[in-house]
Amino acid sequence: MAEVGIDGMEIRTGKLQLDLAETFAPAQGDDPEKYTKGLGLFTSSFPDVYEDIVTMAANASRRLLDRKDISLEDIGRIDVATESAFDKSKPVSTYVAGCLEQVFEGDLHHANKGERKFACVAGTQALDDAYNWIRAGRNRGRKALVIATDTALYARDDAGEATQGAGAVAMVVDENPDLVTFSDQQGFGSADETDFLKPNQQFPSVDGKRSMQVYLARMREAMEDFERNGGDTHPDNFALIPFHTPFPGMVRRAAALGFRHCIRGNEVEEEVAEEIGRQPRQEEFDSHEAYLDAQKEYTETLTETDQYTDWYKQTIEPTLAISRYVGNWYTGSVHIARAAGMQEALDEGRDLTGKQLLIGSYGSGAQAEIHAETIQSGWEDEISQLNIDEQMEQRRDISFAEYERIHDAHNHDENREMDPLTTPDNEFVFDGWGRMGERKYTYVE
Ligand code: COA
Repeated sequence: MAEVGIDGMEIRTGKLQLDLAETFAPAQGDDPEKYTKGLGLFTSSFPDVYEDIVTMAANASRRLLDRKDISLEDIGRIDVATESAFDKSKPVSTYVAGCLEQVFEGDLHHANKGERKFACVAGTQALDDAYNWIRAGRNRGRKALVIATDTALYARDDAGEATQGAGAVAMVVDENPDLVTFSDQQGFGSADETDFLKPNQQFPSVDGKRSMQVYLARMREAMEDFERNGGDTHPDNFALIPFHTPFPGMVRRAAALGFRHCIRGNEVEEEVAEEIGRQPRQEEFDSHEAYLDAQKEYTETLTETDQYTDWYKQTIEPTLAISRYVGNWYTGSVHIARAAGMQEALDEGRDLTGKQLLIGSYGSGAQAEIHAETIQSGWEDEISQLNIDEQMEQRRDISFAEYERIHDAHNHDENREMDPLTTPDNEFVFDGWGRMGERKYTYVE
């Protein structure tokens, strides 16, 4: 049976940029280092008034189809993962298909379209759906277009406002792919949790601190489930470990706990034991609290060892290179982590062909998923075609007053009119509402 995975990807950022340390922190009365050091964020991306989840998704998809010379007839399925949908019935994928039909020959009437929802893990779930569809042999030689697109805005003065962002990742899933293949093994950690939700409202209700705990708890369950399922988790066996990245500081925590978990009982634990002792074991303690305290202390010491810092520098740090400058993209965030890591590896001349990635996805509510990927020989060609660095450089820097206006312009309750801050150039734009309240899009040359 042919291997299945990601054949190519494209990333599209919102065209505006808010400097968190220079512009946002002073206006909020915060120390800039809360952002740069604490959260690990420098700037975030915002959509201009003519951009939204559809334009970003369609613009990423158009470039991907053009570049890979894929016709609309070649696509058998379009799944959009998003937490920012503006319609409870008509899926975003229909709007994206409508956009693509404006600029490509043929149509997408034969393609099965849908929308995937489970907070930020939905992007990975949509990849999974595409994988299963192809492995089941129902694709008739056609490919799946999978898109993760979000405008991650929080209510003004919510703690989450620090971690906002906007962008889309479009991916083609196919047999014998150029970029990565997916492992059959998967691990899940899933429970009914109340950490982040949008009960019929545009901006989320968030218990930020709780969501961080739930992220770590579900991720650990997913890791154990992956191991039970025969998955390898030895930290040395992965070239990169892209995690869901709501902000880099979250990944810093997840990485420390993940490393501790994955070295338990193997030779890496023995090696570091010469310096810091073995990991605490529950049976050595009278109370669970005492065990947890000892674990916390061990983890802090572990992160100071050469073994940990070398591993972190090689497998985790590179995956944060885009996220630091674009903020949280919800469903797309783990997929920009994969791209960032591979882009950094390419810049450093690392040979990744045949190497493994371990992907850690998470969505509030809550579910974590772990799977492995094998990097394919076409990865250098694919990754070198990404233009996300240029897009980030070209973003228009906004003042705090402009930020306040753009936040209002995207707020469904405010719906405030404002002139765009940038000029559309060869891209899909939001072009007003139709007679039934639908959103309309045109391609601007
Ligand atoms: N210098 C260095 N670090 C600083 C600092 C300074 N001057 N000021 C604060 N920090 C650190 C804090 O110690 C903290 O780091 P730590 O968690 O490692 O201790 C970090 O910066 C954030 O500061 P904090 O005061 O906790 O921020 P906050 O109360 O504004 O909340 C979130 C942060 C992430 C909880 C909030 O942005 C949020 O709710 N985000 C949305 C939900 C989310 O993304 N959840 C993640 C799981 S999906």
